[in-house]
Amino acid sequence: MRIWVPADAAARALGADEVAAAVNAAGIRPIRNGSRGMIWLEPLLEIEIGGRRHGFGPVAAADVPSILAAPEGHPLALGPVDDLPWMRAQTRLTFARVGVIDPLSLDDYQAHGGLAGLRAALADPAAVVQTVTDAGLRGRGGAGFPTGLKWATVARAPADRKYIVCNADEGDSGTFADRMLMEGDPFALIEGMAIAAIAVGAAQGYVYVRSEYPHAIRAMERAITAARGAGVLGGSVLGSAHAFDMELRVGAGAYVCGEETSLLNSLEGKRGIVRAKPPIPALEGLFGRPTVVNNVLSLATVPWIMANGAAAYAAHGMGRSRGTMPLQIAGNVRHGGLCEVPFGLTLGQIVDEIAGGTASGRPVKAVQVGGPLGAYFPRSLFDTPFGYEEFAGQGGLVGHAGIVLFDDSADMLPLARFAMEFCAIESCGKCTPCRIGSTRGVETIDRIAAGDRDAIPILADLCNTMKWGSLCALGGFAPYPVMSALTHFPEDFTGKPRMEA
Ligand code: NAI
Ligand code: SF4
Repeated sequence: MRIWVPADAAARALGADEVAAAVNAAGIRPIRNGSRGMIWLEPLLEIEIGGRRHGFGPVAAADVPSILAAPEGHPLALGPVDDLPWMRAQTRLTFARVGVIDPLSLDDYQAHGGLAGLRAALADPAAVVQTVTDAGLRGRGGAGFPTGLKWATVARAPADRKYIVCNADEGDSGTFADRMLMEGDPFALIEGMAIAAIAVGAAQGYVYVRSEYPHAIRAMERAITAARGAGVLGGSVLGSAHAFDMELRVGAGAYVCGEETSLLNSLEGKRGIVRAKPPIPALEGLFGRPTVVNNVLSLATVPWIMANGAAAYAAHGMGRSRGTMPLQIAGNVRHGGLCEVPFGLTLGQIVDEIAGGTASGRPVKAVQVGGPLGAYFPRSLFDTPFGYEEFAGQGGLVGHAGIVLFDDSADMLPLARFAMEFCAIESCGKCTPCRIGSTRGVETIDRIAAGDRDAIPILADLCNTMKWGSLCALGGFAPYPVMSALTHFPEDFTGKPRMEA
């Protein structure tokens, strides 16, 4: 009997290790897979029955003996996992293997299509950049810059050394896709980085991962060692003339180190402070050399593109937003977790149909999309299709696709204040609009809360200055949640008496 119990950090937080221990105690060694992304069902135990994987959840250790004794008809039985509505609603390309395979088994990885993309890249290295360009892949970290164009810039730049840097400093609140990918399918990231290296002529890579992700760090370390041992990494990638190796670097917990230039400073052992651009890292990046800096999801999607072709990837999505996006749904939500869908669904479909509304059962008041610096969307904008240009057109951003729901009990003024406070705490201090503006922003919102209506245009003016005058996205985007809250929910900015936070 084959049994799977996730080793994903969210599943562990909900008791997956205890469930795995109970399965072990029954004499069966469970496979520790990644999470399928249905966090409300974690720990999700899976048993192979009649050749299909049946789910049980959420399971406590005490449920294990009764499930093993009589799985069919058990009160926690969910049926075949692939048939669950959450799974059927998805197009899992980047996350195809997450939750399915043993993350640390290279054999399992290859049995599920792993390394096919790398082999295709090695067969025709000169075609890789064009394939990634034709696929229409855009930076999944949030900015949505065309990945192929970035790689072409690095490939063309003359230099004695080039680097591949993976940004795994997933700092946005409400986002967890990078973590789930690294824990659930670490070889996909390694393969994507190796393909990038072949495409641009780099021999060394770094994964910059946040210290708050101990399980992802461990999974990546083990996977890198296994890949090296199997000849996927090292002096001769899969027996070819290409050399590529990589190391992990652990950040120290500064949000701004997710900004690519402060990340590079941190990697070089310097203080994590933002560098002015230009020069862009593609031309002068790590140690002054041309560097590909990409998010985990961008890199981990490349193997699928190389294995299946650019057209197959570009066939999904809408407008200039091609392919799929792993949505991360959180907050006051009935069904939270990770759901990979093609671009183009409306925000309303995501909120009402996929997420199932709020956990409290009260009406959805606002949805923040794109992390702590993303805009709050009211229901009147729920017909906005999920796409980079479409969200920008409504004064928002797709960002790293974190979607956080709030019900009608949410008070938007303290949420706006939090954005400014967050910016003040996390500011690297290099530029004035962000360093000073964020603190003035907190004070101005406090004036509004106290009933000073004259402070509202001052706040709008301050936001405008921060948006256009800040050196990086931290100060530049903090106005998004503030102005969207003020614009769409003006009734919360009237200085009415409010409960103490
Ligand atoms: P950006 O627009 O300045 O740059 C995007 C990328 O394109 C960078 O890698 C840049 O170096 C590259 N680039 C720009 N012009 C280029 C050219 N001509 N050739 C080659 N490469 C070029 O945006 P930035 O500041 O890198 O990112 C901002 C985004 O980060 C925001 O939209 C936000 O959504 C996201 N973000 C994500 C977080 C997360 O946890 N994933 C946290 C905070 C923000
Ligand atoms: Fe630093 Fe803020 Fe300026 Fe970015 S916007 S460079 S975080 S001070």
